[in-house]
Amino acid sequence: MTKLNQYKSFSTMYNFDTGELDPKGRVITRKLSHMSEMYLNQEAAEELLKEDPLVYEVFNVEVPETIAHIQHCVTILYPGKVGDEYFMTKGHYHEILDRAEIYFCLKGKGQLILQTKEGDFDMIEMIPGSVAYVAPEWAHRTVNTGDEPFVFFAAYPGDAGHDYGGIETEGFVKLLMEENGQSTLVDNPRYQSVE
Ligand SMILES: [Fe+2]
Repeated sequence: MTKLNQYKSFSTMYNFDTGELDPKGRVITRKLSHMSEMYLNQEAAEELLKEDPLVYEVFNVEVPETIAHIQHCVTILYPGKVGDEYFMTKGHYHEILDRAEIYFCLKGKGQLILQTKEGDFDMIEMIPGSVAYVAPEWAHRTVNTGDEPFVFFAAYPGDAGHDYGGIETEGFVKLLMEENGQSTLVDNPRYQSVE
């Protein structure tokens, strides 16, 4: 008799209208109150906290967190600003640092902000159809620079994990702000190198 394989293949439906997955899987909901301290203009953040808007949500397909598997999810990052700073994701390194990731933009537009622990910085524009490769060891954050939800699919090695702590303490080297109707990179005055 043949032994049964331990793994099972399956599919999930992406809804092109709502940007959601069906089934929704493990949903992460990030309101401004979950990350308000990350924005530069704390006065504007305080004001906006009265409404506590939804900044982004992630629909995670549930697969085991082992190297045999591929984690995958869809993120809806809503349009908005805190002062002049666009709504963004918290950003993270992978807990296992040398784990890469692929982002595929489905809807809206934004930027993928990247940096290393050494302080290297990079930015990749995301429009529907963009397939971005986040190389190993790079922290990554997305920013919605448009006026509609920015939706992207991501896939990464099953055991990668998320390290938000590093970014919360160090911050990103640069911030993406709107200046005279244009998205503009500015130095983050609060950035602290780990060195
Ligand atoms: Fe990641």
